Amino acid sequence: MSNLFNLEGKSAVVVGGAGGIGQAIAQGLAEAGAKVAIASRKEESLQRAVSEIKEACGADVTYYICDATDEAQVEAMAEKSFADFGKVDILVCSQGFNKKFDAEEFPMDVWDDMFNVNVKGVMMCNKHFGKRMKANGYGKIIDITSVRSCMATFPMKGNAGYCATKGALDMVIRQCAAEFGPEVTVNGIGPTVTMTPMMESIVPEAAKAGIAASVPLQRMQVPADCAGPAVFLASEASGFVTGQILYVDGGLTAIG
Ligand SMILES: NC(=O)c1ccc[n+]([C@@H]2O[C@H](COP(=O)([O-])OP(=O)(O)OC[C@H]3O[C@@H](n4cnc5c(N)ncnc54)[C@H](OP(=O)(O)O)[C@@H]3O)[C@@H](O)[C@H]2O)c1
Repeated sequence: MSNLFNLEGKSAVVVGGAGGIGQAIAQGLAEAGAKVAIASRKEESLQRAVSEIKEACGADVTYYICDATDEAQVEAMAEKSFADFGKVDILVCSQGFNKKFDAEEFPMDVWDDMFNVNVKGVMMCNKHFGKRMKANGYGKIIDITSVRSCMATFPMKGNAGYCATKGALDMVIRQCAAEFGPEVTVNGIGPTVTMTPMMESIVPEAAKAGIAASVPLQRMQVPADCAGPAVFLASEASGFVTGQILYVDGGLTAIG
């Protein structure tokens, strides 16, 4: 049974792997036996994440500097990672951000930036890694979406842009699953509010107890909550699962 989740001999690239959720997933994949590289724009953050993962589990994770909104950089990273590892079996796209503005005031340049990172950047990674995986005959793609892909917020305002990007991303996941099969599976993980750098500036301290109390599992989500689900979607255990969104949300979408 444990072999079902074993990632020994597999290679993974985690885009956004120096971020809260991406780093926890990168560590989880490494602990399950995969060789892992993380990627994002800032070298300093990548180096910090590499050393924290090493300290936490002893794994030697490598990194690529890449702006995933630049298609030439994404293609170059796909090319280099396949050359460095010999093949890439697992791609995780955990890049993304949220900026909140009331719908009546939403600045459309922020809207475009959010779509550029949260949807187009993920699609470009799916495209360039997916086609190489398909040619190789094997691949597992995991895109990090959100409960906000299927649940608007009320009475809290401000999520029109973020909700729109994550709803769009869910359809990217489903259509890529349709087109990259049967060799490659494409699935999403949909977390709820998790205290990572992305959320520290958005969620006031006073709101945390209420957020924890609003879900059946009665606590705030932590980044490591996504690690096990990512190992599942990256491993043979999910061999016949594709085009799905796995909500890792303490039960929020069940009661929403
Ligand atoms: N935290 C939550 O409450 C929550 C809830 C639901 C879903 N999510 C989703 O989970 C994912 C991870 O969120 P997080 O909370 O872990 O965020 P985070 O800590 O801010 O990490 C985001 C990561 O994405 C990278 N990134 C941003 N733009 C990029 C670009 N253009 N190219 C390459 N990398 C880029 C960032 O690194 P650089 O800035 O160095 O590039 C960072 O490593 C996102 O898709 C987010 O929407 C988060």
